[in-house]
Amino acid sequence: MNIKDPRFQISAVSPKQYPTDNLPQIVLVGKSNVGKSSFINTLVNRKKLARTSSEPGKTRQINFYNMDNLFYLVDLPGYGYSKMSKQEQVKVGNFIEEYLEKSKNIALIIFLIDIRHDPTSNDKLMYNYIFKTNLPCVVIANKADKIAITKVEQSVQDLQDILNPLKDIVFLPFSSERKIYTQKVWDEIEKYI
Ligand code: GTP
Ligand code: MG
Repeated sequence: MNIKDPRFQISAVSPKQYPTDNLPQIVLVGKSNVGKSSFINTLVNRKKLARTSSEPGKTRQINFYNMDNLFYLVDLPGYGYSKMSKQEQVKVGNFIEEYLEKSKNIALIIFLIDIRHDPTSNDKLMYNYIFKTNLPCVVIANKADKIAITKVEQSVQDLQDILNPLKDIVFLPFSSERKIYTQKVWDEIEKYI
């Protein structure tokens, strides 16, 4: 899919700031530094639409990016950044849960995990939380450029064995670094918008 004019719309810290139109919202969820903001940039082929950083904890608010008035990509803060104070970590957790509970227009959750490692305990908690919301979800095994291309498929399967042994959720590899596997992700997104 070719988005002509991807635009930042609003940073929200509370539900009353969420967009009030009824465009579908596709939301990025995942631990801090896993590559959510980069994922948005890669999908729409822009370098700096969503702000990224090698320092975890870059995204602190809920950022809504308007995709040609067709749908939103929603960038959430990441969880599990150990250098954040406990208080801030709780605040971020509340933000995420409040958004997932109160936004009426979530069409799809894109859940990012790191292809190189087993899911963290926070990843497992978040996955179970998402599962209980009954919202559609796709799991992305990100940073696929960091492992040998011959190991990508097996690594994705291993992650699915851990999180989703019933195999009723789509798991896909991704890499913002190499900009590969984007077409399959777009194919999934297009089913929900
Ligand atoms: P928070 O906003 O802290 O939750 O982080 P985030 O999940 O938005 O991560 P962000 O996109 O800011 O990326 C974090 C770091 O990982 C940056 O240094 C990115 O360049 C890097 N990164 C993101 N995606 C990839 C990828 O696919 N491969 C590699 N090698 N690095 C990546
Ligand atoms: Mg971010």
